[in-house]
Amino acid sequence: MQELGRLEDLPTDYVEDLRKLNLVPLWPSLRGVLPPLKPRPNTRATAWSYSDIRPLLLKAGELTPIEKAERRVLVLANPGHGLEKMQASAAMYLGMQLLLPGEWAPSHRHTPNAVRMIVEGEGAYTTVDGEKCPMSRGDLILTPTGLWHEHGHDGTEPVVWLDVLDLPLVYYMEASYHINGERQAVKPGRAERAYARGGVVPTPVFERSHKAYPMLHYPWKEARAALESMAEDQSQAEAVQVTYVNPETGEDVENILGFYALMLRPGQTLTLPARSPACVFHVIEGGVDIQVEEQRFSLVEADTCCAPGYTAVTLRNKHANKPTFIFMADESPLHRKLGVYEVRA
Ligand SMILES: [Fe+2]
Repeated sequence: MQELGRLEDLPTDYVEDLRKLNLVPLWPSLRGVLPPLKPRPNTRATAWSYSDIRPLLLKAGELTPIEKAERRVLVLANPGHGLEKMQASAAMYLGMQLLLPGEWAPSHRHTPNAVRMIVEGEGAYTTVDGEKCPMSRGDLILTPTGLWHEHGHDGTEPVVWLDVLDLPLVYYMEASYHINGERQAVKPGRAERAYARGGVVPTPVFERSHKAYPMLHYPWKEARAALESMAEDQSQAEAVQVTYVNPETGEDVENILGFYALMLRPGQTLTLPARSPACVFHVIEGGVDIQVEEQRFSLVEADTCCAPGYTAVTLRNKHANKPTFIFMADESPLHRKLGVYEVRA
């Protein structure tokens, strides 16, 4: 490939004249912004152990009252982006959030989309758009762009969840902001019950719901049951995976990030092909060895790891006698909408 001219090859007074006029020569930076064959991601394969995070998060509960934190979160920051950027990947933010019994995280809404994956504890809830969503281990709760949400805790033990947001992308677009609100009135009805049966949706007097987000709480027991049924019916060679979708449209639950649950059969090894989006893995039950190019991570329950795009990822269930269940988040909806989604052989 032809070597291109460098900035140092140009006379300094010429470069200086350009700079004064807010002009930049492209060719010294061209290979950087358009590298050959595949991108050069800042996102590094990185793992975070829950046994490391948990005591530090509980310590944050002692050090900082909820009123001083609003959201008591330790961000899982990818060193490849620089920790201060608080990014797991180009478009994904990950945070472990702690809510203690009796605490309340006030109502607000914001432009970034969020979901929370419940990691431990019972008795807490998120109220989203007036719908009270109880939190149990493995549940997925959506707080999509623009919807009011707040968290409360009527239980007796600390509750921890993993937040996944598209904050880095929305911030990069200079479209990130929030608005604080009043405590929400709770409306009756639980959408996850109305949509719990496959193939039927509510249609009062023939009317389909026109809500952008008809379902906000995806209980783990339902997703887990779906995976187990699939595992019984599918051949051993097939991957046992579900996508969290909008039950009215079948589309991804949110606009920018995608969310999935994967079951690894006892002893199963599964290689996911190199795809353009970065991907996050969080162990709900069991344990998994994850290989991302030369790097290997050994994850147990509640551990989290992230892999850059355009790299194959191999997952191996550590257990020979029981399944492992993994929650995944990725940037597929964004890549598909932008027309850059790719799967490589
Ligand atoms: Fe929020």
